[in-house]
Order: sequence, then C-alpha cells, then structure tokens
Amino acid sequence: MNPVRNPFSPGAGTPPPELAGRQAILARVNIMFERLRIGRSEKSFLLIGLRGVGKTVLLNEIERIAQQSGCKSILVEAHEKKTLPALLLPPLRQLLFQFDRMGKFSEKVKRGLRVLKSFVNGVKLKYGEIEISLDIDSEIGTADSGDLESDLPTLLEVIAEAASERKTAIAIIIDELQYLSEQELSALIMAIHRIAQKKLPLALIGAGLPQLIGLTGRSKSYAERLFDFFKIGPLGKSDAIQALRGPIREQGAEITDEALEAILIQTQGYPYFLQEWGYQAWNLAEKSPIDLSTILQATDESIRRLDEGFFRVRFDRLTPREKEYLYALAVLGDGAQRSGNIAEKLHVSSQNVAPIRNSLIKKGMIYSPAHGDTDFTVPLFADFMKRMCS
Ligand SMILES: Nc1ncnc2c1ncn2[C@@H]1O[C@H](COP(=O)(O)OP(=O)(O)OP(=O)(O)O)[C@@H](O)[C@H]1O
Ligand SMILES: [Mg+2]
Repeated sequence: MNPVRNPFSPGAGTPPPELAGRQAILARVNIMFERLRIGRSEKSFLLIGLRGVGKTVLLNEIERIAQQSGCKSILVEAHEKKTLPALLLPPLRQLLFQFDRMGKFSEKVKRGLRVLKSFVNGVKLKYGEIEISLDIDSEIGTADSGDLESDLPTLLEVIAEAASERKTAIAIIIDELQYLSEQELSALIMAIHRIAQKKLPLALIGAGLPQLIGLTGRSKSYAERLFDFFKIGPLGKSDAIQALRGPIREQGAEITDEALEAILIQTQGYPYFLQEWGYQAWNLAEKSPIDLSTILQATDESIRRLDEGFFRVRFDRLTPREKEYLYALAVLGDGAQRSGNIAEKLHVSSQNVAPIRNSLIKKGMIYSPAHGDTDFTVPLFADFMKRMCS
C-alpha cells in the first residue's frame, strides 16, 4: 500500500502512531504534575525496561504532560562520555533564566543563579571542563566544595525553592540512567532525598535498563523507598492488537485476525518490533486487508532490517570475547541462564569470565534478573546471535 501513508514508525524514541497500553502510567503522571504544581510533594519515579519497550517515548510524553500542567521540565540523556554536571548545568541555567523573566525581582531566583555559579566553580576544580557564562557573583561557600554528593543536593534545593516562589514545579527527566557513575547516581539520589524531606516541588523521572534497580539500591539503600519503580514491558495481547490495528484503520485500511496473530507471535508484543512488522507489512501489502501471506514476507524483511540495524549496531560495539560470551548465553536457550552454566559452556571458571560479564552489563547488553542469573537486555537478541554466529 502507499508507503507515503505508512503510519508506523520504528526508531529510537520515535513517537508511535498509537501509544498503546500505557494509560495507567500516564494517568499517574497527570495527577503527579497537577499535585506538584499546587505545591504538594510527589514521589519521584523510575521507568525500568528492556531495549525498545518504549521508555524514551514515554519520557517525551511525560515532558509534554509536565509542560501542559504548567510545570517546568528539563530532559537529558545520560551516556558514558558526559558527566552529570555537564548534562544538567546548561538546562538548569536556562530554567533559572526563565524563572527570572517570569515576574518581578525574586531573591530566591537570584540566589539560584548565584549558587549555580558557585556549583560551576566547585565542579571546575574537579573536572575542569565545564564552561558556563553567568554574569553574576557566586555565593562563596555554598555548593562549591567540588564534592558532587554534597553540592548537587544543595543546588537542586535552591533551584526548587526558586520554583516554589514562582508557584511552579520542576520535572527533571533523565533517560539511560544506568550510564551514570556510581557517585553521580548517589549524588542524584541524595538530592532527591533532600527535596523529599523539604517537600519542595521537584521530581525526578528517570528511565533505564533493569540493572538500574540494583545500581540505585547499592548506592543508597533508602532509594527503594524514595522512588516508585514502574516496569515497562512488552504490550499485552489487546494492547498490541490496538497498536497495530488502530493506526491501520485510521488510514482507512484493515488487517485480518490471522495476520495480527502472526505478528504477535513473531514480536512477542515488543513495541519496537510491532512498529517494524507493521511498517513492513503496510509497504508489502498490495491491498487492504493486510493478510497472513503478507506477514510471512514482512517477517523476512523485518528480520533482515533488524539484523542490519537494531541488533547490528549493538553487535558491532562488542569485543570478540564479549561476542563469544553472548553466543554461549544464546545457545543455552531462551530466557535467563545461570551464569555458572555460561562459564561452563566457555570452558572457563565463573571468576575468569566475570570481567567480560561486567563489561557487558556496563555496555547495557545483559543484566542479572536474579542473583547468579544472566539474560539479554535486548529482546530476541539470542536468536540474532544464533543467526550471526552459527
Ligand atoms: N506504547 C507503545 N505502543 C506502540 N509502539 C510503541 C510504544 N512505545 C514505544 N513504541 C515504539 O517502539 C519503538 C521504541 O521506542 P523507544 O525508543 O521509546 O524505546 P526504549 O525503551 O527507549 O528503547 P532503548 O532502551 O533502546 O532506548 C519506537 O519505534 C516507538 O514508536
Ligand atoms: Mg530509549
């Protein structure tokens, strides 16, 4: 059918034509921002899920809701090459300037800018890389020790006080949180702890791979109580059907029940794959309704595209020994495997293989769903490894 009208959108963070199955979370987010805006405190939360389940898309939607409710937001994505201060400082500075322009002179907003400057001075001592222009004197002795765990809570507290004076609230939204260093994550958690104790109108909404749960718990044991964790998983049957059939009907076309059933089996309801199969099926179908024979072709084409893109980019970042480890994990079967069994398959001891396992966890390729277990963070990656290496 006409590719120009194809409604599907496989891609990293690309908004789907229908954001299926996330109503409960979005309802909670709506209430959260309404409460924050009228000065009620709210628990921060973290979205936890595998690759391609729709975390980034949800964070973008959450930012939209925050702004619609009259809250201010900043959205950043953590990665291994940038420090947390380097990520947060430019948007925080911009936020304070917005507060400054929102009304008449405010001592709390001016203090926010002074403390931001002190924070930059402290951070400069430590990392030496941050350049931010601020035409204001710093508040010497506040948030400028260079110790992130002490300075970040002070900085965010002062900024949240400024927000409170401007009768608004702040959503700090951070994607790929698992890439923060242990010390950065700890500083962030301590800052949110301080904000919660002072009942200030600021919330953190983060997203990350499943290892994030362990990382937060290890860095601060109270993190478990400080945050709500939402598991973001594959879509259930009726939501997955809606994610496909809704956009097709919207374009005036149809898809048969057998065709849908076949896509659900192949994709296991994972959002990225639903978009990919939907996209290929639309282009390959000669006419409506899209039927089972089209899905058989769409499956070949989707797997080929995933092998060249979604899976391939991750595979190319691996060392030969990491690839061997992942292949061993793949051939042991579907789902989580005992780490000892993987080592055995590689004819080495668990201790010997631990550095490779750790580096794969750091790269976000695998995680530990339970003590001593290992599984892929990328759905259907086991099949890909078998296709690549056999
Ligand atoms: N609820 C949903 N219904 C239908 N499609 C969705 C849904 N959520 C996300 N998608 C689609 O899935 C794909 C992946 O979404 P997204 O990039 O947000 O995933 P992610 O969890 O951030 O993945 P990664 O961990 O790789 O960053 C996109 O093409 C998006 O359009
Ligand atoms: Mg993402």
